[in-house]
Amino acid sequence: MTTMAILISGRGSNMMALAERCTSGDLDGRIAFVASDRSDAPGLDGARRMGLPTALLPYGERGRMAAEEALSDLITREGVDWIVLAGFMRLLSPSFVDSHRGRIVNIHPSLLPSFPGVDAIGQAWEYGVAVTGVTIHLVDEKMDHGPILAQEALPVLPTEGRQSLEERMHQLEHRLYGDTLKRLFRCRLTFEGRRVLFDN
Ligand code: GRF
Repeated sequence: MTTMAILISGRGSNMMALAERCTSGDLDGRIAFVASDRSDAPGLDGARRMGLPTALLPYGERGRMAAEEALSDLITREGVDWIVLAGFMRLLSPSFVDSHRGRIVNIHPSLLPSFPGVDAIGQAWEYGVAVTGVTIHLVDEKMDHGPILAQEALPVLPTEGRQSLEERMHQLEHRLYGDTLKRLFRCRLTFEGRRVLFDN
């Protein structure tokens, strides 16, 4: 069974969707802990309600280096295979990424490289795109940039408002993240430049 650490900063709906898929046995994974950089992240309560261990990373008091050291210690102690970012709003340092290269995955609510950064759904909405979507990618040193593991497009319906688009985007995220991790846990990855191939 593959062991994950999930990093959040907010609501944690992606984390909860992954936790449900682990509980149902659909995803052959174990969540060792859910960590947040914010003590007020609502997702921490959600994780506790699901009986998952939680950790608060001391970004505020002690800065990024100390927070990442604490995270690395937890990862080693818990034998974590994959670090799963799910709405984690901090950029990980180059040295942290280097130490855990190829083992950190992120979800972003746009078809990268369009609309990186915060509020990607809002950016796409304001731009007036007819198609948006979700990207799952490996994390490298740059924000929302690493090799793409999965992308799925979502047409913006001519009749819908921003809220409806956001809801449909989150539904897609919740399905695609679990599906992609499932493949990731079963396969060995090979790389052709930035292109990622899943070998069974
Ligand atoms: C998601 O849209 C995710 O793609 C982005 O931040 C949002 C987090 O939502 N990185 P939640 O905390 O999982 O509900």
